[in-house]
Amino acid sequence: MMNNLTKAIMIGVFKGGVGKTTTAINLGHALALQKKNVLLIDLDPQGNATRGLGYEVTELTPTVYTVMKGISGAQESIGQVKENLYLMPSNRTTALLETELASEVGREKALARAMKGVEGFDYILLDCGPGSTIVNVNGLVFSTDVLMPIEIGVDSVEGVDDFIKAKDAICQKLEIETRLMGAVMTKVDRRLTLTETILSHCSASFEGKFFAQIRTDTNLGHARGHRQTIFEYDSRSRAAEDYKQMATDVIKWFRKSKAYGK
Ligand SMILES: Nc1ncnc2c1ncn2[C@@H]1O[C@H](COP(=O)(O)OP(=O)(O)OP(=O)(O)O)[C@@H](O)[C@H]1O
Ligand SMILES: [Mg+2]
Repeated sequence: MMNNLTKAIMIGVFKGGVGKTTTAINLGHALALQKKNVLLIDLDPQGNATRGLGYEVTELTPTVYTVMKGISGAQESIGQVKENLYLMPSNRTTALLETELASEVGREKALARAMKGVEGFDYILLDCGPGSTIVNVNGLVFSTDVLMPIEIGVDSVEGVDDFIKAKDAICQKLEIETRLMGAVMTKVDRRLTLTETILSHCSASFEGKFFAQIRTDTNLGHARGHRQTIFEYDSRSRAAEDYKQMATDVIKWFRKSKAYGK
């Protein structure tokens, strides 16, 4: 049983390149800067969040792979990366879990089982790779909430419906409840003609849920290149402003909507 007040937010759609990792890293740091204790779990075999936070993984480092295999404890795999910000890292070995866990009973619950007893975090953010992999399903089982990053584009709206359907099907099959928290629109450029239409469509379909917007800002890519968060790279940038606002809104949203334990 997780600490009742811990909110575990999976930042996911089963789609690539929409701003999941960028959001996990920068929302994570923004919450940490607002004095919240934050753990980021990197579930992606690409290890982009791990690298983006400047964390070095060697063959001996405990990762989400060793944790989910029961080779190392969750607590010992968690490293501090900034003040108030902690990371459970990932590297390409995480991909092995797809075959190694495939025939195990209760394979969808390996992460939730391993995380029992990990306490003291206000927010746990999960960054996942694309695809409805066993590892991502583990993320969904463990999380209390799912936040969907949506990149504005022609097929962005379809991707949303597909993901919500897939999420509901998984939850039903496994008899778990993972709440759809809402969406964050990424790479928002108001000069483009489609933007307003898509924004109003999406905000309507997420009515009553959390809804945030992050404007297009090339500083986000530069920050990643330097293995820094946007707050380290350029705290006066648009993206820093937007992720700071998003963190404030996330805190407010959970105050209002009440977190629940799992
Ligand atoms: N608001 C933004 N403005 C400009 N570029 C952005 C923004 N958000 C993300 N990007 C860029 O878009 C690219 C993809 O972002 P990111 O890596 O966060 O996506 P992802 O969903 O994690 O992808 P993957 O599925 O490969 O893990 C990166 O180059 C990132 O720098
Ligand atoms: Mg990513």
